Amino acid sequence: MALIPEHTIERIREANDIVDVISEYVQLKRSGRNWFGRCPFHDEKTPSFSVSPDKQIYHCFGCGAGGNVINFIMEHERLDFLSAVKLLADRVNIEIETTQVSPEQRDEQASYYNLHELAARIYTRTLEGDQGKAAREYLARRKLSEETLKQFRVGFVPDTWETVTLEAMKLGLPRQILERSGLFMSRKDKSFYDRFRSRIMFPIIAINGRVQAFGGRIFGEAEGAKYMNSPETPIYHKGRTLYGLNLTKDRIRETRTAILVEGYMDLVRLYQGGFTNVVAGTGTALTRQQATIIKRFADQVFVCYDSDAAGIKAAQRAGLVLLDVGLETRVLELPAGEDPDSFFNDSAVDDFKVIMEEADEYIPFVLASQSEALRSTTSRSNFIQSFVSDLAVMENNLLRDMLAGQLADELRVPESNVLALLQKQVRRSNRPHRERGDGAKRRSGYLDIQSAADRAELELLRMHISENRDILDWLLTSLTDEDVQQLRFRELFQLLRGRLRKEFPIKRARLLDEIESGDIRSLMSRLIAELDDVPESITHADACLGTIRREQNQKALETLRQELRQVEKKGGDVSSILAKIADIKST
Ligand code: CTP
Ligand code: MN
Repeated sequence: MALIPEHTIERIREANDIVDVISEYVQLKRSGRNWFGRCPFHDEKTPSFSVSPDKQIYHCFGCGAGGNVINFIMEHERLDFLSAVKLLADRVNIEIETTQVSPEQRDEQASYYNLHELAARIYTRTLEGDQGKAAREYLARRKLSEETLKQFRVGFVPDTWETVTLEAMKLGLPRQILERSGLFMSRKDKSFYDRFRSRIMFPIIAINGRVQAFGGRIFGEAEGAKYMNSPETPIYHKGRTLYGLNLTKDRIRETRTAILVEGYMDLVRLYQGGFTNVVAGTGTALTRQQATIIKRFADQVFVCYDSDAAGIKAAQRAGLVLLDVGLETRVLELPAGEDPDSFFNDSAVDDFKVIMEEADEYIPFVLASQSEALRSTTSRSNFIQSFVSDLAVMENNLLRDMLAGQLADELRVPESNVLALLQKQVRRSNRPHRERGDGAKRRSGYLDIQSAADRAELELLRMHISENRDILDWLLTSLTDEDVQQLRFRELFQLLRGRLRKEFPIKRARLLDEIESGDIRSLMSRLIAELDDVPESITHADACLGTIRREQNQKALETLRQELRQVEKKGGDVSSILAKIADIKST
């Protein structure tokens, strides 16, 4: 296994500010010195997930999850330590020397990303070269500027069978990796060839800038489906990916507003027009996971789909998903037959601003787009039936019922009827009840703090990571190894004391790397998170130790008294027991 030197890890950690990194996954709001958001590791309504820029740690007061920036990436991306460090290194362009590592050892994920990066480079190079002439002309007709093409890394793959295959073979990667990468197809004789041929290539780029998939558009005389997309691979899950977000996330975060479009072309064209807070799906219906990603950056979304029947239906569905995750949702109305891309062919940038200003609220949009269908009583009733069955799958019951109410209101149907229909649909859809809050691992009993002594132990533990040298001295001298033996959290005490003897004071962030047990790390991160809120003095430490010793004495007395009763019953000699009891009582 490749070992990354400690100083490199340190450098990577320092370059990746925890607030920046976590903001890419969680919507954070500042409160005092810390940032708060809804915990990504369990389902919660009120934010109890805190991130401390000073301490460079996160901690969830709800589920106990916690750690440093590397731990966060490990947990969130489900990576091992090394891969998490690599991801963070990539994020800030720090090179990690992996020279002696053979391709077989190189971790799988990295291989997939490398292959995609390789392909993206081949595609952009080809677009710029002689073979790319026709494609360049096509893109120019579609009014994409050279700058835009560069920004989106648009490329071209000619009508040959092995453009990427030949280059990829040189990497000497295992066959399995090539197969799973989604970039190749294999023939009967097991040889590979390119999946994408004769297409304009739009790389789909992960939020951290790494190419993870492609969408290839046909053009000119070539035949076939308009778009060919990467299949699901170990690094690409359509339902969890949004196109363009790597370039647009900052602007979305700044404006708290996103414009959601359907197509690659739409996104690129809007971006070029200066609407840089835009995202697109990946050619499938918007999923709840995608909506949740948008929610991390935005509070409101303008849905801007094609204005044909299919687009309207899709916008209606997407709108509900967005509303359901708590996004303010409005829907734009483009002139008939247009999509955002074509809109710019005959309208100016300002025209789009007007369209945005005139955007409808969700229910009014739905009703306006159905005005034909709403004319007759029968089709009106059919519409209510079908719309209510869409509502029935929402998770936010309050909002769901409000939308049903609004619909009833607008259509002048008794609200109770619509709600009754909704209830019926909810029961009928009979979906297996998803366990809520399953994201968080069940908290084990290890962290249940009950007695005063438990609390005192925690305080003492916390003081081990203090930066106050007097307190640290006191801990190493006044708290004895014998005391520690008796403690409930002795493993953690031993770990910290061992550390403190080598490193005085302890480097907190690094400490968290080394704790493998989730329970212990959770406890540690909580201790660090609470550091500012608790008294830190030798007097306090002494009081804590007092509490612990008292409780220990109490327990010891309890045992001795039981022993005493037993021995008395049998008529034995109780003097030594009495002496021990007296001894404890005198302390
Ligand atoms: N799509 C797809 N496969 C197709 C057609 C469409 O995957 N055969 C997906 C693509 O993600 C595409 C989106 O659906 O971007 C929207 O489709 P469409 O509006 O037809 O394409 P545009 O992106 O608008 O492309 P163009 O303007 O070049 O037609
Ligand atoms: Mn289009």
